[in-house]
Amino acid sequence: MRTQVAIIGAGPAGLLLGQLLTRHGIDNVILELRSADYVLGRVRAGVVEKGTADMLDEAGVGARMHSEGLVHDGVELAFGGQRHRISFRDLIGKAVIVYGQTEITRDLMEGRAAAGATTVYEAEDVSLHDIESDRPKVRYRHKGVEQELDCDFIAGCDGYHGISRRSIPDTVLRTYERVYPFGWLGILVDRPPVSEELIYANHERGFALCSMRSPTRSRLYIQCSLEDRVEDWSDERFYEELKRRLDDEAARRLEPGQSFEKSIAPLRSFVAEPLRHGRLFLAGDAAHIVPPTGAKGLNLAASDVFYLWQALLDFYKRGSSQGIDAYSGRALARVWKAERFSWWMTSMLHRFPESSGFDRKIQQAELDYLRSSQAAQISFAENYVGLPY
Ligand code: FAD
Ligand code: DHB
Repeated sequence: MRTQVAIIGAGPAGLLLGQLLTRHGIDNVILELRSADYVLGRVRAGVVEKGTADMLDEAGVGARMHSEGLVHDGVELAFGGQRHRISFRDLIGKAVIVYGQTEITRDLMEGRAAAGATTVYEAEDVSLHDIESDRPKVRYRHKGVEQELDCDFIAGCDGYHGISRRSIPDTVLRTYERVYPFGWLGILVDRPPVSEELIYANHERGFALCSMRSPTRSRLYIQCSLEDRVEDWSDERFYEELKRRLDDEAARRLEPGQSFEKSIAPLRSFVAEPLRHGRLFLAGDAAHIVPPTGAKGLNLAASDVFYLWQALLDFYKRGSSQGIDAYSGRALARVWKAERFSWWMTSMLHRFPESSGFDRKIQQAELDYLRSSQAAQISFAENYVGLPY
């Protein structure tokens, strides 16, 4: 089999890139390790930046997001027993859309099927070859048969545990990492959200977040220990703990229900550089991870795809390699700013097991500054809604 761009991974990065390329007449094949149902079963991000929404429109799959997604003009921060609203709309005239990653993935999969582009699900033992040459190839096994895909470029969109990043020689790849000493326990439940907007809570017992997927479905998170297991947390225990971390009004409005998804995610900051080696590009979680506090993971995957799509258009439509040469630098400049924001929000809102009295006083000062300074709120707002591409 031969294609122009071989895409590894059918997460949001791979599917979005595929859709944009297909719409501009650039042939591509996606190879995905899992089944389509498995990919759709993963519950992840919920906040969509304007830039990401524009990309989904450009890819022709934004209609359902606009009709079913919830436009949020601000968020609330809860600390010291009170809630403080930060209005993106008033501060910078912008907003975000709350719309689940699962739905985005479904819309992209449907768009791809309608366009007739090829996706090979359950592609096993994917390996990359000759990436330093002009004729790279990808080998894999499908339904027990060994296959080879020849291509011009490979887009490594296969997430943190994928093989693309590991195909770049150790002598070339540099990695930067911070692992946080806690995780997030999240549940999905068919109960109305406690508030119209997201509540990010800093409490001495730990961080909490009340998010949502629709006017009738809540997505709720609490900071937990890395030793905790999902089985340790009955729904009753979860609600009791969440209630203690919220202000009185939010706690009163919290309606317990039976969760239908419950999972623990560790928190990590990670960046691999460069994002290009020969004819291989890395995009999304394959190249970088952010702790979820700033809601940036999915949105960074989309901005990487923007730069990569532009680079490939330059190559195929204008015969120029400039975009390809600039890809890594352009994408990383934005990645590091989102890394900074996610690290900062994580540091400001969580309880760190090792923190001293000094650290906690600094955290309180940070929150108080954000509460009282319009300059600080503008900075928060422009980062939260997403820096320009
Ligand atoms: P992925 O979505 O990871 O997609 C990669 C794809 O590649 C997967 O489908 C995978 O099966 C496939 N793949 C892997 N290895 C191979 C291989 N060898 N061959 C072929 N295919 C392969 N972000 C937020 O903003 N908010 C959140 O609440 C949030 N929660 C998260 C919870 C979890 C458990 C995780 C893991 C991430 C979470 N994120 C969150 C981050 C966000 O979901 C990711 O940043 C986003 O999914 C990145 O998209 P991606 O396409 O780069 O990678
Ligand atoms: C959600 C997840 C986040 O990490 C975040 O910062 C905001 C919302 C969510 O899943 O809804």
